[in-house]
Amino acid sequence: DDDLVVLGIETSCDDTAAAVVRSNGEILSQVVSSQADLLAQYGGVAPKMAEEAHSQVIDQVVQEALDKANLTETDLSAVAVTIGPGLSLCLRVGVQKARQIAGCCNLPIVGVHHMEAHALVARLIERKLQFPFMALLISGGHNLLILARDLGQYIQLGTTIDDAIGEAYDKTAKWLGLDLRRSGGPAIEELAREGDAESVKFSVPMKQHKDCNFSYAGLKTQVRLAIESKKINAEIPISSASSQDRISRADIAASFQRVAVLHLEERCERAIEWALKIDPSIKYLVVSGGVASNQYVRSRLNQVVMKNDLQLVCPPPSLCTDNGVMIAWTGIEHFRVGRFDPPPPANEPEDTV
Ligand code: KG4
Ligand code: ZN
Repeated sequence: DDDLVVLGIETSCDDTAAAVVRSNGEILSQVVSSQADLLAQYGGVAPKMAEEAHSQVIDQVVQEALDKANLTETDLSAVAVTIGPGLSLCLRVGVQKARQIAGCCNLPIVGVHHMEAHALVARLIERKLQFPFMALLISGGHNLLILARDLGQYIQLGTTIDDAIGEAYDKTAKWLGLDLRRSGGPAIEELAREGDAESVKFSVPMKQHKDCNFSYAGLKTQVRLAIESKKINAEIPISSASSQDRISRADIAASFQRVAVLHLEERCERAIEWALKIDPSIKYLVVSGGVASNQYVRSRLNQVVMKNDLQLVCPPPSLCTDNGVMIAWTGIEHFRVGRFDPPPPANEPEDTV
């Protein structure tokens, strides 16, 4: 069998990540440097600032990934790097680094689609996972339901018509005055455990649309209005809120989460029905992307999947949120079937990249 060692680099959004993975599925190293402090300070990702943050740490992150794997560049079989979707200024930082290493060591480059990587990393952790399978990809920028028929052959069953679920989690967290030094999702998940999920009656999005698309903009508005009507002041951090105020915030978090996830459940139910008509041999639903690290999301979707005699495959949280392992692994999958670019010229001038 093939024995490949691939370096994966990911810089599409606010994390600078690198990892080294072997084609037998062994993760030799995994490094993530997050821009959480910047995010907390400015309340979101500003492309120019994110680019600078990536540039500052990229060399160090990649070096650390190689060191932890006990390897040098010359031991690699290829370099895989995210080429989209994402902020182009940020993507460039990763691509430049990949080309630099590949140029020096005469290595092929595999350009990786970020969302494909979120889906395919499930095949690293569940080696029985063969095509065809379904995938629900839920992150800060995307909501996708796909039927993966084969490597590179994906049928899109549904996508978001406005905001992704992670964006709704992040805004809700911000409006509830939660600590944003970590991302909004985990903060909402934690606070929701204290709240009554039935207390605020949010309506489930797109009930009347009998398709598999998603919408979270309307739910965001409903949440904002509820926060206003309960006179919650996000300027007061939750750590200083009165106990009554804390309960109100927890109730909103729990009610939001229930409905946000109910929308996922309804769409998955229908998508499974559709997908099984296209291909009755489907056995798995992969759930991946940052929001898939949420325990409530996992357990609710597990119910849906079991009801339909399928199996849920959900990578561990560190492989659900943005990471270099998924890029390296997807690089391996493509490399194996001959999909890669030849090594770039060594010492190319930076502005041609
Ligand atoms: O996949 P990802 O790391 O980056 C993108 O490609 O967008 O996803 C980030 C998103 C953020 O919106 C974050 O709040 C959300 O995933 N997230 C969560 C949880 N952990 C991360 N949402 C809900 N519950 C979580 N535990
Ligand atoms: Zn992502």
